[in-house]
Amino acid sequence: MASCEFLNSKGTFRLKSPENNSYMYFPLANEAGVMSSITPTLNGDCKMGQNTFLLAPVSSEELHNNKSSRNFWVYIDGVGAWSATGISAAQQAEIFSQDKEETQLEAGIMWHKATRTSRKYGLKSEIISFIPATDDKVELMKITITNIGNEPKKITPTAAIPLYCRSADNIRDHRHVTSLLHRIKTTEYGIIVNPTLTFDERGHKKNTVFYGVLAAKGNGEKPVSFCPLVEDFIGEGGSFENPKTIVLNEEFKIKSNDKLEGYEAIGAIRFEDEVIEAAESKTYIVAIGFGDCKSDFDSIVNNDLKETAFDNLMKETEKYWDTKINISYETKDKQFDNWMYWVNFQPMLRRIYGCSFLPHHDYGKGGRGWRDLWQDCLALLAMDPSNVRGMLLDNFGGVRFDGTNATIIGTKQGEFIADRNNITRVWMDHGAWPFLTTKLYIEQTGDIEFLLEKKSYFKDIQEGRGTEKDLLWNEKQGNQMLTDEEEEYKGTILEHILIQHLTAFYDVGEHNNLKLHGADWNDGLDMADEKGESVAFSALYSGNISNIAELLKYLRDKKNIKNVELAEELLVLLSGNDELYDKVEVKRRVLKEYCSKCRHNIRGNVIGMDCNELISNIEGKAKWLKNHIQKNEWICNKEGYSWYNGYYDNNARRVEGDGEHGTRMMLTGQVFTIMSSTATEEQVKSIVKAADKYLYDKSIGGYRLNTNFNEVKTDLGRMFGFAYGHKENGAVFSHMAIMYANALYQRGFVEEGFKVIDTLYNHCNNFDVSRIYPGVPEYINQKGRGMYHYLTGSASWLILTVLSEMFGVKGEMGDLTFEPKLLEKQFNEENKAAIDMIFAERKLRIEYVNDNRKEYGNYSINEIYINGKKYKFNGKTTISRATIKELEKVSKHIIKIILN
Ligand code: G1P
Repeated sequence: MASCEFLNSKGTFRLKSPENNSYMYFPLANEAGVMSSITPTLNGDCKMGQNTFLLAPVSSEELHNNKSSRNFWVYIDGVGAWSATGISAAQQAEIFSQDKEETQLEAGIMWHKATRTSRKYGLKSEIISFIPATDDKVELMKITITNIGNEPKKITPTAAIPLYCRSADNIRDHRHVTSLLHRIKTTEYGIIVNPTLTFDERGHKKNTVFYGVLAAKGNGEKPVSFCPLVEDFIGEGGSFENPKTIVLNEEFKIKSNDKLEGYEAIGAIRFEDEVIEAAESKTYIVAIGFGDCKSDFDSIVNNDLKETAFDNLMKETEKYWDTKINISYETKDKQFDNWMYWVNFQPMLRRIYGCSFLPHHDYGKGGRGWRDLWQDCLALLAMDPSNVRGMLLDNFGGVRFDGTNATIIGTKQGEFIADRNNITRVWMDHGAWPFLTTKLYIEQTGDIEFLLEKKSYFKDIQEGRGTEKDLLWNEKQGNQMLTDEEEEYKGTILEHILIQHLTAFYDVGEHNNLKLHGADWNDGLDMADEKGESVAFSALYSGNISNIAELLKYLRDKKNIKNVELAEELLVLLSGNDELYDKVEVKRRVLKEYCSKCRHNIRGNVIGMDCNELISNIEGKAKWLKNHIQKNEWICNKEGYSWYNGYYDNNARRVEGDGEHGTRMMLTGQVFTIMSSTATEEQVKSIVKAADKYLYDKSIGGYRLNTNFNEVKTDLGRMFGFAYGHKENGAVFSHMAIMYANALYQRGFVEEGFKVIDTLYNHCNNFDVSRIYPGVPEYINQKGRGMYHYLTGSASWLILTVLSEMFGVKGEMGDLTFEPKLLEKQFNEENKAAIDMIFAERKLRIEYVNDNRKEYGNYSINEIYINGKKYKFNGKTTISRATIKELEKVSKHIIKIILN
């Protein structure tokens, strides 16, 4: 098994002949909004958003099919042209031959170094690419060319970076016409393009963005000439892999301060000819960037275009990200620990790139969805909890009064946008995620009062949980729910959460499970809007409702809060008993009544509700739902296996069990029945057996999302149109697989949970099959290839699972509690397993010591030492928040936990 070779404990890795793998890309980005993707041969793209692509947008197929990559050419006098990135027709032709150039990739967080040695040309190139972690909107490259021959060589170096400079829409739409908008200028250091207008989905507008490529020698010396038009650069009959001006070493005629317009552009920048002695190196710096005006490029020249500046910026960038990734692990398997370093980084990548700006994510126009917003916060809670409170509060502003939520998320925190296309789609799982994140936040911090904070509600034309339109609403009214008095209504976070769960509780299909609506977590289950039901998420909602009741008890008992304020409309949802809950029609009437009371606005009257009454009412609902699922959805097939049915289709038929074309089992229904404790201990055992029998496939990384239904099931969702083993149709979908692991760990099924994560990790780590750089991909396809790498919600869940389940380090109402679920084989040679993390703003290293090498189940916590001093705990293995807060902030504190 070949793996990426790690060079330190910060995820830096090395890979030989990286270009002999297709579809691989690496992320380079910064928080100023520059987002690049880069391949081993420096293909990929660079943009700041859907409408501002500097390099032309690439989806995965373009990674091998596109010639317009970042390139750097060296013409050797008397020999010919050589591409330092490997993208020349001649070098491409040799990629499968014995004479292939030696190549290697080394990469770490947000930097990428490609090296290439050509014996034939007697040259070696090293190209480091990164995007500084500053406010600069620039991607930088340092190219070092070394003469590995014995004789001096006269060389002509040329940087060649095609400048696309427009919206991704224009790749097909008006590709030529938009090149007529180009206004191109040369400066002393490069080429700047400032299109006059933009033609894209926003209409025709005046363009304000400047794009440019600048270059200098390592010592800051200027280039000598330019060739800014693609057609001049490639020459008649030429191409980017075989450009006439390069291959024939033709003179570039354009000097600085020239103007051209109306053609496709390229940052083709020529340096002075020079002689490179044997064993000598020459260095060049190239910057590709964005600006609001021409002078922005002067500061790029001043700040970035020198080797010393480049090296310093790179060091600072490495340090910046390393400080951000403030959680790390030490187990027996160092490869795993390093792999997790990349997983830790992934939620940060998704915050920058959204779900759409790497080459596999070519389906959207950017942004993140509601679900993603909340899940990415899970990881933040582990790594950067400082701003999470504000973020959670703002995000609750996206909840509608009918329990659904805004689905278009703006770029600013807490900005939600009304869907102008009026496409009504309700994902029935959306209401459940905010509570999971909020609960984690409260447990980590003890900030239970957060539930009593107030926030407005989102309002637009949609109402009645996606079934009706509020024609009285118009955009002028704004996106907040108003009262009868036309005032913005603000309710507590508790009220928001209650609305999300109670409306869902009454929103049922024929079998009295929660309606599937437009889909649940599985976006591919999108064709059962009328009669579909998600038993899977019914279970999660029921578990959540029980947990809401627990938090309320804490408020009542520990904070002496006996009454909570709720909008009077909620009373409709807070009545009822088992008899009512049994009746689908009555339930639907209750929901209708509630929705009609808050169609356009609400009264604005607030009632004080007795906590006891509230707790007993919602506990009744949670219990009813759990019983209902237990009683009706536990199925047994003819082969004698049992598990929970997770869905009903649009013909109101049960989905799972024995099918016409084979067994039908889905993982989602198992995950949430286990997680919510709907499944009994015995049932979890049966589920594990069934999942091992029907869903487990070691060769593709573990547990598939479903068995092969062998049917294009148009009464359930588009996923059945996908070939089996791909994406939502039966791939190993990391997110659900990891939630399965999490659920198993939570229920004490530790070996089983470990198996899920270990199989997935081992598969990703097996580079020959997975063909991805370290990290967890969205899914593994039928051939075992990791797909949609980097931008996946599964990373957050994996961090959470490793931290709070495997290592068992969790917050409990603000205190720090330890419940390790590490297997004996995870302890290293020194009998230790450790985790470095932040808790209560203190840097902690938590070391479990298992000197007697006991297996999980046989050990318990014997002693706890804080910085060498024994900490007395009585029964409960918890360190109080107050004790942690007493530790000073700057240095790291060692908490040693002796197991026996
Ligand atoms: C993606 C989406 C996620 C959705 C999932 C299943 O997963 O981002 O919202 O629930 O597909 O359809 P991810 O890439 O986050 O793992």
